[in-house]
Amino acid sequence: MLNILHHYIGTKVLNRLEPELSHAIALCYLRLLNHRFSRMKGATSGLKTKICGMELASPIGLAAGFDKNADVFNATLSLGFGFVEVGTITPNPQTGNPKPRLFRLPEENALINKMGFNNKGMLYASKNAEKPKLGIVGVNIGANAKSINKVLDYTNIFEFLAHLFDYVTINVSSPNTKNLRDLQKPEMLEKILKNVKSINVSLKRQVPIFVKIAPDLSENNVTEILDACEENGVSGLIATNTTISPKTLKKPTAFEGGLSGKPLLRQSNKILRLLAKKKNESTVLIGVGGIFSGKDIYEKIRMGASAVQVYTSFVYNGPRHVKNMEAELKKLLLDDGYGTIESAVGDPLRSKRRLDPIYFSP
Ligand SMILES: Cc1cc2nc3c(=O)[nH]c(=O)nc-3n(C[C@H](O)[C@H](O)[C@H](O)COP(=O)(O)O)c2cc1C
Repeated sequence: MLNILHHYIGTKVLNRLEPELSHAIALCYLRLLNHRFSRMKGATSGLKTKICGMELASPIGLAAGFDKNADVFNATLSLGFGFVEVGTITPNPQTGNPKPRLFRLPEENALINKMGFNNKGMLYASKNAEKPKLGIVGVNIGANAKSINKVLDYTNIFEFLAHLFDYVTINVSSPNTKNLRDLQKPEMLEKILKNVKSINVSLKRQVPIFVKIAPDLSENNVTEILDACEENGVSGLIATNTTISPKTLKKPTAFEGGLSGKPLLRQSNKILRLLAKKKNESTVLIGVGGIFSGKDIYEKIRMGASAVQVYTSFVYNGPRHVKNMEAELKKLLLDDGYGTIESAVGDPLRSKRRLDPIYFSP
């Protein structure tokens, strides 16, 4: 009954309101339930998997940007996500870009956002993070818009928050903070990674470090980023953030900000496939971008993702969506004879069976 109510509110009511208002209401609702959820069990899906030593209740995670301040991670875990990534959190609180800054494109199954890391800062997030967690919770970290030393921001926030979370994601791919994507250049990325690595080795419990990259990168860019990550102790890459390219739209129209959802699927898969082809065996990939179904997840897994994350389709389809995608994924795995998620990861690179041929084109 409660599930039906959540679903009805999530899809029928909220999607009629102004997008940022409906997000704020959803967060309020989840905050009310967060306490109740903290006494319940986390997700149990029968799709358990393990990445970088972390036991995920399922490979389907909630992407960064939904729970910017780590307010509702137990509620979102209880909706069926196998892990959640909170943030992006910056060292100091900041209000983000002027409103309106979030737009729906329902005919494209997409969102455009130019939020600009609106968040309450690392001190606020640290207090939430001290609460018991029902599952795996990672933190996505970024730099303040007005910071004069963005590299130092990552060092400071890593030092402050890493020990409170299961993993840390270095976000150098948001299009909504001026020059942030320049930090993907190998010389800048290496500086960040060397700093955070030296802090990580001094922690009692070292955390897996991920780097989240943009979809708007050339093959050369991707290779350079991957090399910098693999040389500096990064556990994995998250591909991808939102795109700035209108070309991905069915009806290409110029926009400001980052585009997510269906139009992003193909481009984010292209980056994922490239990474899968070039990476060292031990480097883990998390696929994100344009997932709307169990099939989309299955394809990312078989392309090489050990886990995936979802944002836009959760906004459009509500809480029941996660369980629906999970059931579809389970069926696809079973039909193809995979007993575990792990056995399907990167499999088409070996067997090339039953996957859309576009993913193998050069
Ligand atoms: C409103 C909104 C806010 C977002 N904020 C962040 C963020 O703070 N940090 C981040 O790394 N990604 C952020 N993202 C990107 C998502 O985490 C994800 O990479 C992207 O939306 C692609 O996945 P999707 O197609 O399933 O939405 C945001 C996306 C949206 C739609």
